[in-house]
Order: sequence, then C-alpha cells, then structure tokens
Amino acid sequence: MIATSRSLALYGIDAYPVEVEADVSTGLPTFTIVGLPDSAVRESKQRIQSALHNIGVRLPGKKITVNMAPAGRKKEGPGFDLPIAVSILSALGVVPAGSVSRRFFIGELALDGTLRPVRGMLPMSDRARREQHSGLVVPRGNSREAAVPGGQNVYPVDDLVEVIGFLKGEIDLEPALFRWEWNEDAPDNLPDFEDVRGQESAKRALEVAAAGGHNILMVGPPGSGKTMLAKRISSILPPLTPEEAIETTKIHSVAGLLAPDGSLVCSRPFRAPHHTVSDAGLIGGGTVPGPGEVSLAHNGVLFLDELPEFRRNVLEVLRQPLEDGKVTITRAAMTTTFPADFMLAAAMNPCPCGYLTDPSHSCNCTGPKVQRYLERISGPLLDRIDIHVDVAPVGYDDLSSDLPTGEPSSDIRRRVVRARKIQLARFRAVSGVYCNGGMTTSMVREFCPLDDKGKALLKSAMELYGFSARAYDRIVKVSRTIADLTGSADIGSEHLAEAVQYRSVTSGTYFG
Ligand SMILES: Nc1ncnc2c1ncn2[C@@H]1O[C@H](COP(=O)(O)OP(=O)(O)OP(=O)(O)O)[C@@H](O)[C@H]1O
Ligand SMILES: [Mg+2]
Repeated sequence: MIATSRSLALYGIDAYPVEVEADVSTGLPTFTIVGLPDSAVRESKQRIQSALHNIGVRLPGKKITVNMAPAGRKKEGPGFDLPIAVSILSALGVVPAGSVSRRFFIGELALDGTLRPVRGMLPMSDRARREQHSGLVVPRGNSREAAVPGGQNVYPVDDLVEVIGFLKGEIDLEPALFRWEWNEDAPDNLPDFEDVRGQESAKRALEVAAAGGHNILMVGPPGSGKTMLAKRISSILPPLTPEEAIETTKIHSVAGLLAPDGSLVCSRPFRAPHHTVSDAGLIGGGTVPGPGEVSLAHNGVLFLDELPEFRRNVLEVLRQPLEDGKVTITRAAMTTTFPADFMLAAAMNPCPCGYLTDPSHSCNCTGPKVQRYLERISGPLLDRIDIHVDVAPVGYDDLSSDLPTGEPSSDIRRRVVRARKIQLARFRAVSGVYCNGGMTTSMVREFCPLDDKGKALLKSAMELYGFSARAYDRIVKVSRTIADLTGSADIGSEHLAEAVQYRSVTSGTYFG
C-alpha cells in the first residue's frame, strides 16, 4: 500500500514543497529512503523505527520504501521525520489516507515519539501558505514561528500519539495564532549614550549613520571610546518594520538562532564577529550553504572592531554585500543567495601603536610601519564607508565634570525614528528599500535633486579630495539623511557640507 504526505525543504532562506511517499509491503524487513536524502534524513530511519515501536506500532516482516519528490533536489535536516512517519502510518492503515495527503507535516522525532522543533520553520510556513492545503502540523516549539505568516491553520503537536489522534479525528487541535504585538520602544537594558562623556561629533556621526543606515568608520587612539560608542548603536536604531522583521527572522530561523518558542526577531540585529572570523563565517558557507555574519546582520549592524586585524581576504569578501545588499554563495551542492543589507560599523587605531593622532602621547611608529598597517584595509572597502569619523581622546574636564552626562539614547533615537519615517514614506513604492543608505544610483538621481549651490559645493569637494563616483553617490545619500534629520524637504548646502566633511576626515589624515 502506498501513501503520501507533504512537507517542505529549505533552499537558502526559501523553501519548496516535497511529496513524501511511503510504500509498505510484506517481505524482508528493510527500510530504504530515496530522493537525495542527506545523512540527517537517512538517520531518520532509526528515529522513526524507535518512535513507532515505543508508541506501540510494530513493523515485523515489512519492507518499507520512502521516496521524496522532487527526487533531484537534496533534502537536508531532521524535519522529515514526522512526514515520513505519517506516510508509513497511513500506508499501514493506522491513520486514514485522506487526512494525511492534504496536510503539511514538519518535525523531528525523539526516540519516544515526542516532537522536537526544527530550524527554518518561518520560510517553510511562508511557502506552505501559497499551496492549497488543510493544515500545517508542526512541533509545539515551532508553532509561534509557523503562525507568523498567517492565513492558514497551524496545528501544534507534542508527540506522535497526538498526531495519530488528530488524524483519526479523535482529538481536536487548537490552531496556533500569531498576534502582532508591535513594540516601537527600544529594547531595555541596552548600554546608553548617556554614559559617554564628550565625543559630540562622534555621537552626531553615529546618529546620522543610524538614521540613514550608512556605513561608519571610527578612527582614534586606544581608550578614546570607539568600542564604547559602537556598543551603544543598538540603543538608537529605529524599530524594524514588519517586512524587515520577517526578512530578518527567516535568516535567523534558517541559521537555527531563534530563541526556543520564538516567533519574530523584533529588534535590529547587532553582530560583532571577532577578527579571527573566517571568510565562510563572515559571508556564509557549508556544503549546503548557510548564512554568515553579514546575513545575520541583515537590517541591523555588523560591527568590526579593530578593523586592520581582520585578514585582508576576509575583508575583501565584504565588497559584494556592501554594494548589493546580498551575498551569493556557490558550493558543489547548490548556489544560494542570502540577503545581507546591513549597516557596517568599524573601529580602528590610526597606527600600530595607536597614538598617531593623540596630542598627549608621542607615536613611535615609523612611516612605512603606519603605511603597512593602513594598507590592510583596501581602497575599495574604504570607498564603501560613507562616514569616517575621528574619535579624539576626551579630556580630563569632560570625564571628571560633575555636570550631567551626555544626551540619553532615548532622545537621539526619537530623532532617528522621525528621520526614518520620512524615508519609509519616500520609498513606499520601492520594495526592499527602507532607508537612504539602500538607494541605488538611479534612486539617488530621482530622490536627491541638488540645487546649483549644492552642485558647485560638491564639484569643488570632488576636485579637492579626488572622490570617486561611488563616493559622490554616497555623499549625496548621507546629505539626504542629514536633511531628513532636520525635517528639510530639500538638500541644502549645509547638509552637503556636513556629508562631505564625514568623507574627508580620514582621506587627508591617514589614508593619504
Ligand atoms: N567619552 C567617554 N566617556 C566615558 N568613559 C569613557 C569615554 N571614553 C572612554 N571611556 C572609558 O574608557 C574605556 C575604554 O574605552 P573603549 O574600549 O571604548 O576604547 P577604544 O577606543 O575602543 O580603545 P581601543 O582602541 O584600545 O580598542 C571605556 O570602557 C570607558 O570606561
Ligand atoms: Mg576598542
């Protein structure tokens, strides 16, 4: 007797439907799975046999063949345990075939028949929604995530016994519902900008970067507060829009990073990989490619502290995602594209000893040594960073004053959110673009017209500093954000001047 159930397989951060057929006949007791299973799927034989045995289903003298179609695509992960078990139960006549064939099943089996959550539930549930079906049966730990896309019945179950009862019509299951509880406030317990004394220009630069999603590089001597400032970026980032939250959650779900019983990633990710990270760790990789740090930082911040300490080839792979907002990974098994639209925040010292720009310390680095140090960061990478800011050491007066400390993050965040709302309205008709930093060249032409005075200012700055065409676009984008922060509909020359200044800080001082 042959029976079929349906399931879903992951492909990058998308999923596709899979038909799981089981043929149970009398013969020598064998259990074969075909249809390009990976080792986790092949091992499901042992889990399924134990689980069925432990709930009292005996398989003596049965020859079982399971086929997963489309047979030409690789199936990975333990999520096929449940659909395979259900197809076998249906083929054995334990559950009615009609109740199985119209439903989707996903879940990993424990040896006693209980169900464990699997990664990648959100993309799979999102894909199932586009199919005609009468329910998606998932482990309880995945139910909140599976319910996010809405528009379909999601049935949470605890174990195989409950699944059998449900399919036989003996148990009623309550479909899981997802309620949007949108909280626009910043997450609690984040480090606050209030703790940072002085550093007004660095804070302003970070505000502009957060408001428009621009890349930022902080250069300064040891102890000047670069790491401290970067760790506070999260506290001023605007809330995720619902579309951004779903995009980000899909990636975290595929990477298996969602909290148990989690549903949506509701705050912007902040990823700070160590400088020993490999290029596969940063960009993504594996035989079946999985997302790397750049994708986990999608719609959030990728913070690279001590930038020159990263290996040069690792930094070079950042060039594609910084330009396109996505990464394409090619492996023997498949080619996958992951979204990777993040705000890069980087920090570094100006020279190996760190004191080149510190007025109170003498720097003992030789010219060639400084040059070798700075050469670790290539021109093309630097060119993609919109805001370069010099973080000078704070003086005794700033640190020791009994005056109230700096402006709290909540005030800065309010301005950032206001500027981001203007941008959301601007890009309403453009899918996938949510902030000025994400504009393409043609969008810069459309949304950022400059007046004659602005054009003249930019022309002289281009000549003076030798900016590239890319730098031109990036300066205009930053000036658009600065204008948005002041609520101005037009880009004025004062906005352009500030944007040019962010670009010129390092070009003269360190990078020649
Ligand atoms: N502006 C500031 N206000 C208050 N405390 C500060 C400030 N700058 C630095 N500090 C103090 O100095 C410590 C070191 O700062 P931080 O680690 O951010 O320096 P850094 O610039 O990253 O140095 P390095 O180049 O060595 O990494 C902070 O944890 C903080 O206690
Ligand atoms: Mg530091």
